[in-house]
Amino acid sequence: MAAAPGAAAPALPLSFAGWGAALPDRVVTNDELARTLDTSDAWVSERTGIRARHVAGPGETTAALAAAAGRRALASAGIAAAAVDLLIVATTTPDRALPSTAADVAALLGTPAAACDVNAACAGFAYALHLAAPAVATGLSPTTLLIGAERMSSVVDPTDRTTAVLFGDGAGALVLAQRPPGTGAGVGAGVLASALDGDAGLIPALEVPPGDAFLRMDGPAVFRAATRALVGSGRQVMERAGVTPDDVAWYVPHQANRRIIDAAVDRMGLAPDRVVLTLDRHGNTSAASIPLALAEAADDGRIRPGDLVLTSAMGAGMSWGSVLLRWGTS
Ligand code: ACO
Repeated sequence: MAAAPGAAAPALPLSFAGWGAALPDRVVTNDELARTLDTSDAWVSERTGIRARHVAGPGETTAALAAAAGRRALASAGIAAAAVDLLIVATTTPDRALPSTAADVAALLGTPAAACDVNAACAGFAYALHLAAPAVATGLSPTTLLIGAERMSSVVDPTDRTTAVLFGDGAGALVLAQRPPGTGAGVGAGVLASALDGDAGLIPALEVPPGDAFLRMDGPAVFRAATRALVGSGRQVMERAGVTPDDVAWYVPHQANRRIIDAAVDRMGLAPDRVVLTLDRHGNTSAASIPLALAEAADDGRIRPGDLVLTSAMGAGMSWGSVLLRWGTS
């Protein structure tokens, strides 16, 4: 499907040449968690929409999950690992302090690319996309592999029912490729508008406190801030691109909580049946949730070339942002 005549042109033309996902083998249901925690499937699914999550085993490191998703994304794009110029991993759960997770992924994939991590917690993938898109569109880094990967089980206290039920592990990847002039003209793929924001005053609402091994969260405070952030930044990018909620073919939000997503959809006036949801099966996979959802919806044919896709995320920091893009693979 081509973009409608007169539709907003991408400020940053590029193609979404390939995508991939990787999830740990082990699936943990709410019922399984309820065997060791004072919780229930009914409580978790009603309050969050989450029914199950994948949990990494010993060999399933953040880098291993990232590399698996990256390898699939490159294969779907038909691009060799050696052709990647820039490799960015968005993660808040690196396996080690240094080198970057991206460097470990580059080693696993056999790519000689420049490699670095972006840490904006659950907003990491939106931040990385915002930072990478201009470099791809201008040809500074014409072939960029963007991966969101998390092993949230490393930072979640398994005895804390207020957080242990929320998170999951996994990775998703996207290949961004510079669009040579004159190509993809019928679709006009690229980034139409992008905006990042943050409020460090909200750090205490969600953090691994100094000296603690696990993340601690003020759930209701995060809930309120997250809804405000999604709505504010989603509206901001639609306004900047001159599009309305009716123009949005798919809304791909960070998958934290079904009630946060429903409230944001309602307040922005987006169509409830045009929302890509994976949190029922994945839980909150932090920076991996958006590329996992994009990969699933592109794989099953929901997201098609020419579609306007609004993606928004928020996380610890607090940091948040939205990217409005027109999907296109060439
Ligand atoms: N099972 C059963 N009861 C629970 C559980 C649980 N897993 N967790 C909390 N409770 C209890 C609380 O202890 C509390 O009990 P009390 O009244 O006896 O004190 C009661 O349920 C209500 O607790 P609240 O925190 O007020 O419940 P709320 O309706 O706010 O739901 C939730 C909690 C689901 C965490 C919600 O606040 C939320 O989703 N917040 C957003 C957090 C989030 O998405 N964080 C993800 C990371 S950040 C990000 O990705 C943006």
